[in-house]
Amino acid sequence: MGGRYIYLRDNTDGKFWSTSWMPVRSALDEYTCRHGMGYTIIRSVSRQIEAETCYFVPVGENLEIWELTLTNLRKTTADISIFSAVEFCLWDASDDSTNFQRNFSTGQVEFVDEVIYHKTEYRERRDHYAYFACSEKLAGFDTQREAFLGRYRGWDSPAVVEAGESSDSIAYGWQPIGSHHIKVQLKTGESKQIVFILGYQENPKEAKFDPPGSQVINKKPVKRTIAKYLQPKNVEAAFDVLRDYWIELLGKFQVNTPDEHTNRMVNIWNAYQCMITFNLSRSASYFESGIGRGMGFRDSNQDLLGFVHMIPESARERIMDLAATQLGNGGAFHQYQPLTKRGNNDVGSGFNDDPAWLVLAVAAYLKETGDWAILDAPVPYENEHGSETPLYEHLQRSLQYTLDRLGPNNLPLIGRADWNDCLNLNCFSDTPGQSFQTTTNKEGRVAESVFIAGLFVLAAKEMVEIARHRQNKGDSAKMQQAARQMEETVWKSGWDGEWFRRAYDDFGHVLGSKDNEEGQIFIEPQGICIWAGLGVEDGRAKKALDSVAKYLATPHGIVLQQPAFSQYYLHLGEISSYPPGYKENAGIFCHTNPWIMIAETKIGRGDQAHDYYTRINPSKREEISELHKCEPYVYSQMIAGRDAPTPGEAKNSWLSGTAAMNYVAITQAILGIQPQYDGLEIKPVIPSKWQGFEAIRHFRGVRYEVSVIRKGTGNRVSLLVEGKNVPGTVIPLPDQGVRILKVTAYIG
Ligand code: GLC
Ligand code: GLC
Repeated sequence: MGGRYIYLRDNTDGKFWSTSWMPVRSALDEYTCRHGMGYTIIRSVSRQIEAETCYFVPVGENLEIWELTLTNLRKTTADISIFSAVEFCLWDASDDSTNFQRNFSTGQVEFVDEVIYHKTEYRERRDHYAYFACSEKLAGFDTQREAFLGRYRGWDSPAVVEAGESSDSIAYGWQPIGSHHIKVQLKTGESKQIVFILGYQENPKEAKFDPPGSQVINKKPVKRTIAKYLQPKNVEAAFDVLRDYWIELLGKFQVNTPDEHTNRMVNIWNAYQCMITFNLSRSASYFESGIGRGMGFRDSNQDLLGFVHMIPESARERIMDLAATQLGNGGAFHQYQPLTKRGNNDVGSGFNDDPAWLVLAVAAYLKETGDWAILDAPVPYENEHGSETPLYEHLQRSLQYTLDRLGPNNLPLIGRADWNDCLNLNCFSDTPGQSFQTTTNKEGRVAESVFIAGLFVLAAKEMVEIARHRQNKGDSAKMQQAARQMEETVWKSGWDGEWFRRAYDDFGHVLGSKDNEEGQIFIEPQGICIWAGLGVEDGRAKKALDSVAKYLATPHGIVLQQPAFSQYYLHLGEISSYPPGYKENAGIFCHTNPWIMIAETKIGRGDQAHDYYTRINPSKREEISELHKCEPYVYSQMIAGRDAPTPGEAKNSWLSGTAAMNYVAITQAILGIQPQYDGLEIKPVIPSKWQGFEAIRHFRGVRYEVSVIRKGTGNRVSLLVEGKNVPGTVIPLPDQGVRILKVTAYIG
């Protein structure tokens, strides 16, 4: 679906204006756009006519409601025309924007009982259509774009709106649209509600046409839905359902801390963004066209970490989908298509960090739910029937994949890339436009990743616990040994003296070391290795984090590496294709910042952790919106780094792993409320000036009401559960039937 428009026309003098997503602002006296959980309200006043439209999708429906309320603020009666408009997509976004020689001749619509039906290609192999209905008697309609807009005109001044008269056009080829025309007379102070429904319907193949054998689409299934939602009272009821749905979801974790920006993000917007990234992965947004990437294997596993507490059942399903695309050798398709749930062959496999993320996702799911049975569920490889093994074995193969691919230093081979999609050490692309993601000109037997080593340790330690819970001592000991071995390798070849190195390239040269001229220190291995526990006890973690503070931290967040790459390096790949300060080339790649926050909490530095949290917190950054430029409630993938001309300018908001990772960092590491296999852990590492905070956390059917009270300057925790001392930091699972637990955590 393309743009959505509502135009108003004053029929006494022919003046018109738009009051929707793309208003002609100069014609408006007031304009506000307010987003809430699953809805948007756009309000405007022009020529003393107030228009407020609430756009939302009712829970469980394939339709969008536009509920318009018009109010006459004049002292006289108003004679107003309303024109709705929507541009239909011809179902295949790529074809729609390229294949004009065909698709200017395929468009078809029906106009029946005042409802516009868009049915391009329904006559052949499609069995789905769109419909656009309105609650009012129509003065006219249009379904052909040129008839509506007029020649050489745009959406800012459609000819039909200017004339005050629809042309009742029926699209046959060209560019189908939907537009209703409604005339209203509003007395002084009078309000009127008008409902539009924009819906989508799929019919069973055998019931496509009505009557059968005709070319007329079967509308029976939507008639009732249309009738239902054209009633304002049903619209209001649906909106209440949507509101309650979100109240329940957000209610699973609420906090009250001394910092309003923490509260706003944790309680509302960060959680909301986690839901959006979980659902959409990196498919469609303003920055993602929706026709390129499907569900990323590593992305979706990470998105799950910030979402699993909201709807664990959906997380379970996602885990099953992801694991079913895994390859027999433990590797993973880098992406899969959400509709077919099949691995994407064009991109293929070979991003060597991918499989390990599955272990972290499953660990998070187990900790949240205690659903150990999931590990015995049979799951195929590459969706091939007959290849099923228990999910547990998928996890084992995931880690074995790393162990089977060690390089000259015994560090994991990087393959096409690790978490950093742009560190393409086997690519060597010198052809313009070639994809860095799929081009591989080297065998890949030399280039190694310290990042994957850290990730492996983190994931292997989870496997140790998981195996132990399954009473599998052998597996547990084996993974413990593998993790220990990998740690030793990191200390031997991955430690640079003051920080963790990043990688070894195809020539066996180090990257992310003081021996490099550019790219001396990278953020990713510092975050992941310390998160995995490396150097926490012996001071080397502190050293690495001090180096991060010294070389990478800026007032707007922590940049990805320094010094930035000043030129394109054939042997490094896409990372050096970006101008310095942007994206992976020393931008503040926000996704990585929470790893440092988590690492800071591992060494007990709550002030530093929360300071980093605040630097990229969109709510806090509202103060500098002129610079930041993105929404003040949603994380962006990137904030320009210090090497860019506009440090602090954000880009690519919404679909980013930043959402889940920040959620994990603030809720689990800083506030320290973290699900564990055997209970809920309370282990805050908060700023020293905070005297405490309160939280409500729903966990395995119990509502935990937590008060954290500072008694001293440290982070040591003593727990009182229902007034009784509990040793350690994990609250054991209560007896069946207990619904509420009051917890006091003294820290000091
Ligand atoms: C993008 C990708 C993610 C990758 C990151 C760093 O956010 O979606 O998979 O890890 O870039 O390159
Ligand atoms: C580009 C981006 C990177 C993203 C990748 C996904 O390389 O720089 O952030 O992960 O595209 O294909």
